[in-house]
Amino acid sequence: MALKYGRPIDVNPRLTPVEALPPAAADARLELAVRPRRNRKADWARRLVRENVLTADDLIWPLFLVDGSNKRVAVDSMPGIERLSIDQAVREAERAAELAIPCLALFPYTDPSLRDADGTEALNPGNLVCRAIRAIKKAAPDVGILCDVALDPYTSHGHDGLLRDGVIVNDETVAVLVQQTLVEADAGADIIAPSDMMDGRVRAIRTGLDTSGFDAVSIMAYAAKYASAFYGPFRDAVGSSATLTGDKRTYQMDPANTDEALREVALDIEEGADMVMVKPGMPYLDIIRRVVDAFHVPTFAFQVSGEYAMIMAAANNGWLDGDRAVMESLGAFKRAGAAGILTYFAPRAARLLGA
Ligand code: PBG
Repeated sequence: MALKYGRPIDVNPRLTPVEALPPAAADARLELAVRPRRNRKADWARRLVRENVLTADDLIWPLFLVDGSNKRVAVDSMPGIERLSIDQAVREAERAAELAIPCLALFPYTDPSLRDADGTEALNPGNLVCRAIRAIKKAAPDVGILCDVALDPYTSHGHDGLLRDGVIVNDETVAVLVQQTLVEADAGADIIAPSDMMDGRVRAIRTGLDTSGFDAVSIMAYAAKYASAFYGPFRDAVGSSATLTGDKRTYQMDPANTDEALREVALDIEEGADMVMVKPGMPYLDIIRRVVDAFHVPTFAFQVSGEYAMIMAAANNGWLDGDRAVMESLGAFKRAGAAGILTYFAPRAARLLGA
């Protein structure tokens, strides 16, 4: 017997036998002055009234780097994503240029032997990320390069700052982040993106850049960055999940908060940020909208590793149409008001957009 909501459906007596109902009247016309479906009746009509359009210009493509040459190492929790040796990253940068993707974001996987408690490899002008910047700038000079400033790829404990007696210390960390900034700017980074969530770091970084002749280098502040479960696969990719002790809740934001995001963004703008970012992306579209409405500054969304992994997992199981889910998720950021999106789907989206 057929069941619906746990009840057998054929014991529900119909009040009116089907045969007794009047036939669906062909002339049952509603007097509607407004029929919203008219604007959706054909592809040309939908294109004509479309409110938000995604283009390749909206995309920032994050790449993971690894030491070596001719190496592409799969990231298990991010199907389709690989850590790239510099020569391979250069090839992807050339592809970015062909696809008209304006900017790359570089994230190094640092060999465990180079990590220490204070993340000193971050200050090595010959470190992986700096060598990659130089090589990419040479091969694809018209592609912008964004670089994170934070110590987590370099610390043995996996935190973004310096750990002293169990506490991530703020001011001492900021001083090191300024040095990290100068090392990356000197290598040729176009945008410095502090992702550490220390207080006062944007002003310190701006001052550091300006007093060292790097006034043309931009700052995109990870302004509202939440302590999120969705960064898990990224930490696998950069090798910090194995080492991370504890969590980042004393510096990254509480996912319950929204007014606090506005205060963080206000501070970063005041301190000299040219652009701000909200992170993660899709679970935080409300924050993007509030920030855009309140500040009218270029606001970026980071569709983070966990969001990528979710879409890929469902698509690879045949549970979602991957291409459509990718484009819909990216379109949602535009609708929320984002100026652009950091997304691992950047090349796929650019290809789908026909660039
Ligand atoms: C490092 C950093 C993280 C991400 C970008 N920069 C991880 C973290 O804060 O733990 C996350 C990106 C992603 O998940 O795709 N501070």
